[in-house]
Amino acid sequence: MSQQDKRTAFRAKLLTFAGDPATTAGGARFEEDGLLIVEDGRVVAAGAYSALRAQLTRETKLVQWPGKLIAPGFIDTHVHYPQTEMIASPAAGLLPWLDTYTFPTERSFEDPEHAANVAEFFLDQLLACGTTTALTYCTVHPGSADALFEASEARNLRMVAGKVLMDRNCPEFLRDTAQSGYDDSAALIARWHKRGRQLYALTPRFAPTSTPAQLEACGALARLHPDVFIQSHVSENTDEVKWVADLFPGHRSYLDVYEHYGLLRRRAVYGHCIHLDDDDRARMAETGAVASHCPTSNLFLGSGLFDFEKAKQAGMPVALGTDVGGGTSFSMLQTMNEAHKVARMTGHHLTASRMFWLATAGAARALGLEDTIGTLRPGAEADFIVLDPEATPLLARRTALAQSPEEWLFAFAMLGDDRAVLATYAAGREAHRRA
Ligand code: GUN
Ligand code: ZN
Repeated sequence: MSQQDKRTAFRAKLLTFAGDPATTAGGARFEEDGLLIVEDGRVVAAGAYSALRAQLTRETKLVQWPGKLIAPGFIDTHVHYPQTEMIASPAAGLLPWLDTYTFPTERSFEDPEHAANVAEFFLDQLLACGTTTALTYCTVHPGSADALFEASEARNLRMVAGKVLMDRNCPEFLRDTAQSGYDDSAALIARWHKRGRQLYALTPRFAPTSTPAQLEACGALARLHPDVFIQSHVSENTDEVKWVADLFPGHRSYLDVYEHYGLLRRRAVYGHCIHLDDDDRARMAETGAVASHCPTSNLFLGSGLFDFEKAKQAGMPVALGTDVGGGTSFSMLQTMNEAHKVARMTGHHLTASRMFWLATAGAARALGLEDTIGTLRPGAEADFIVLDPEATPLLARRTALAQSPEEWLFAFAMLGDDRAVLATYAAGREAHRRA
């Protein structure tokens, strides 16, 4: 970050985290009257106003938001920016949805102007929802990744993205080859990984659309670049699981295919993880690979119910994703809403504190970015949001009756969406303000 911004302080309620609220007493910290101090795009301090007011010099600009809540910006760990315009496309499950809507839609990203246009709109949507970092799939076209990174760089956002790899079982017009996918990904890593706030993710779409040769090549790139991210889908749908068993005979499980090719490790993020077994969960926990739970998508496509209890028992890193266009909302608040209901269906209770943690500091920790984003700790990048408890008449009435910070936050998770996001800041600068 090259910008030099003078010191600004924001006074509001504050939500910060010291650890996973599910396992750490006092993991979530709620400050009734808090102060966040930011300078040159980074957090200087965050805590009680009474403790930090002495740091307000004459030069400090003070922004007051009485009654509002400042929290770290949301992290969406699984989304497809090219699917923005095809959100809410009805189909009888994942595989017909891919054939009918997804592949034809992704074809149009061969046009760089179209890709640039959708990338801008996508970022507008994320910021309106309070999402400051996303792990996004692009399409098979390398230019679709350039378009996303260029748009993100211009707004100084921290985004993780990658060109999709797929060299079989998809229309001819969307295919790369093991060699071209390797070369294009290597060039994109050289061009974008760690350039400013941009980070690259190797993106084999899912095992069925890659030949063993392509997965082998992807694993080789992953070994060359241990700090590059990896993103794919696993065990989302029962027909898909059967298909993988046919395509890759001799593997213990679907997840084992990825492990075989060296794609299970820290910074590897797998969407869905619904139909895993206990051995799979143990392998994810041991390797540090992350499950991205995408409840709005899983319900919309009828994929199944993610098992929070088993994930917790296995000690497997978990974060939340919207999975738009399979998912039905860009809002991480709406994603929490449906995550809560899915957890209830499997006998697990997700508190509001934990859902906010999963969408911020917990996601950052799972991604190995805990000192950088998802936190208001001094030195972190100042990506944060301002939530409005009076965003709608109903939210105002419910939050007014809340008996505890937990209940107050829970109302946001159940009733909130982009309307609840008053402002979104990226690297200390306002990137969105609600109309
Ligand atoms: N599996 C392979 N591709 C996709 C995709 O685009 N969306 C979802 N939800 N699952 C997938
Ligand atoms: Zn997906």
